[in-house]
Amino acid sequence: MVALVLMGCVAVGAQAGAPGTEAPPAFREAMQTAGDAWATVESLVDSPAYLLNSARGDVLSQVATIRRQTATVRVLFETRALPEALPLVAAWEDALVEFEAEVSRATPDQAAAQEGLAGVRDACVACHRQYRTGDQARGYRIRLSVP
Ligand code: HEC
Repeated sequence: MVALVLMGCVAVGAQAGAPGTEAPPAFREAMQTAGDAWATVESLVDSPAYLLNSARGDVLSQVATIRRQTATVRVLFETRALPEALPLVAAWEDALVEFEAEVSRATPDQAAAQEGLAGVRDACVACHRQYRTGDQARGYRIRLSVP
C-alpha cells in the first residue's frame, strides 16, 4: 500500500516536469503496450533462440500486438490535425509488415530479421524525435507544436 502511494507521487511529479502536452490515456497505453512488446521482440531476434519455431512464433505474436496499436496512434495524429505526422505512422506500419514477412519465412534468416528489426526501430525513433518530448525520469509527452 505504501509502495503504491509512493509510485503515485512519482508519476505525478514526472508528468509535471516534462515539456509538451499530455497525450490522451489511450495513446499512452498504446505506446506502453508497444514498448513492452518491442522489448521482447528485440531480445528474441538477437538471441540464438531465434532459430526455434517457438521463438519466432513469440516474435510474431508480439508484432501483432504492436500492429494493433498503430490505429490508436494514427487516430491521434489525424484528430490533432497533424497531417505531417501521418507519413511517419505509415512508414512505421510498412516497416512492421516487412519485418513480419521476414519472420514468417519457413527457413529463418536471422541476419535478415535483424535488418527488419532495425527498420522498425528507425521508424519508432523517427517519430519520437519529431513528436515525443521528455525522458524516462520526467515522463514522456507529445509535442503538438514544433517550436
Ligand atoms: C507516429 C509516432 C510514433 C511512433 C511510430 C512510435 N511512437 Fe512511441 N511515442 C510517441 C509519442 C508522441 C510518445 C510520447 C507520448 C506519451 O508517452 O504519452 C511516445 C512514447 C513512447 C513510450 C513511452 C511511454 C510512456 O509514457 O512511458 C514508449 C515506451 C514508446 N513510445 C515506444 C515505442 C516503440 C517501441 C515504437 C516502435 C515499435 C514506437 N514507440 C513508435 C510516438 C510514436
